[in-house]
Amino acid sequence: MADDSAIFDAARAEAYSTPIDKIDVALEERFVDDTIWPFFERLRREDPVHYCADSPFGAYWSVTTFDDIVTVETNHQVFSSDKRIGIFDPPEDDDFQMPMFIAMDPPKHDQQRKTISPIVAHESLVGFAPLIRERAGKILDELPLNEPFDWVDRVSVELTLQMLAPLFGFPFEERRKLMFWTDLATTDMSDQMTQEEARAELMGCAFYFKNLWDQRVTEPPSNDLISMLARGEATKDMPLMEFLGNILLLIVGGNDTTRNSITGGLLALNDHPDQAAKLRANPALLDSAVPEMIRWQTPVAHMRRTATADFVLGGKTIKAGDKVVMWYVSGNRDETAIERAYEFIVDRARPRQHTAFGFGIHRCFGMRLAEMQLRIVWEEILKRFPRIDIVAEPVRLKSCFLRSYRELMVSIPERVAV
Ligand code: HEM
Repeated sequence: MADDSAIFDAARAEAYSTPIDKIDVALEERFVDDTIWPFFERLRREDPVHYCADSPFGAYWSVTTFDDIVTVETNHQVFSSDKRIGIFDPPEDDDFQMPMFIAMDPPKHDQQRKTISPIVAHESLVGFAPLIRERAGKILDELPLNEPFDWVDRVSVELTLQMLAPLFGFPFEERRKLMFWTDLATTDMSDQMTQEEARAELMGCAFYFKNLWDQRVTEPPSNDLISMLARGEATKDMPLMEFLGNILLLIVGGNDTTRNSITGGLLALNDHPDQAAKLRANPALLDSAVPEMIRWQTPVAHMRRTATADFVLGGKTIKAGDKVVMWYVSGNRDETAIERAYEFIVDRARPRQHTAFGFGIHRCFGMRLAEMQLRIVWEEILKRFPRIDIVAEPVRLKSCFLRSYRELMVSIPERVAV
């Protein structure tokens, strides 16, 4: 593996020599080579509520400490989610809008979220567990030995899709469609298709799910998201674009995040052999190791709010109408709130003290499901593979919103029969 210390040293030097008002932590290149950390470190120390007047995403505030993120998140009257939850603003005149409940304020947000809440109730999760274990086992048993392969595609993507499909009652053999639609909604596909083509594909997604919806309403109610949306008072009459928006929210919410936690978890264990050995010796530590992997990875780097009134935070006055970005990725390295935040520790005393799921009324809807999925997946991985070798540097997505991996080449020397 390459020695990247020169790149990291250069990033640190740049982070501390740039005039502070010129720092733009949304620069996507720094997420690609993973050199963003010293920039956040400096902001947390010297200017925790930071204004960037000029960036490719326009002017924005950065909220970088754990406590300030909680303050913004739990004050949804002032910090609105209406229409926008990422740093990027589409053109004002763009009429291709997909309303979704993550980008709504109460009361509509609360009503729509409540409609599907039974899917993440304890009994529902317990019901999904055996299927997840069976599918994870099958995928892991089919992996090649002593032959490099892409862990992202063969394990993280495949496992996540196989866990996601039953949540929608989605046809198993068509599950790769879910991945394609996720990519359409979250990544720049301009090298592969025009914007019109991408939008036509998204409408294809809407009609595909509308078909499932039409089937479900003729069947008895079942424990899947489409059946719940089709029957819920707050959702049964949604316009098509709002239906599409909510479907994409649930696909992306349940897909990219868990997937990148699986890849990020493997990288973290590989980079910390002492912690990996501790976990292998005592897999019961997954209770704390799973939330620690989620903190370490922080698959959603930020969420954005728009101020509806002037608000003083950290001595700075945020004005009504300003764009406010909460950097979970920074909150999760805040040493004033998380002990030894820069260390990956599988048996942390308070592993759920992290920002990766957000807080307040929008706190991740699927967090218990995600933790359960990851726990089962890691139980099955640890049982089978005493070693998983990473044979090339990971390839990261160019995004300051999702901390996502495109490729991670690995080789597995041996499988233990289970
Ligand atoms: C490790 C895995 C996951 C991470 C790190 C994650 C992270 C997040 C974050 C940061 C938010 C926004 C929180 C806020 O604004 O306060 C969120 C919201 C959401 N997540 Fe997750 N998520 C994960 C897994 C899932 C899964 C498996 C689902 C399942 C469907 C899901 C569905 C959602 C939904 C629907 C929302 C919107 C909630 C609302 O607006 O009320 N997430 N997630």
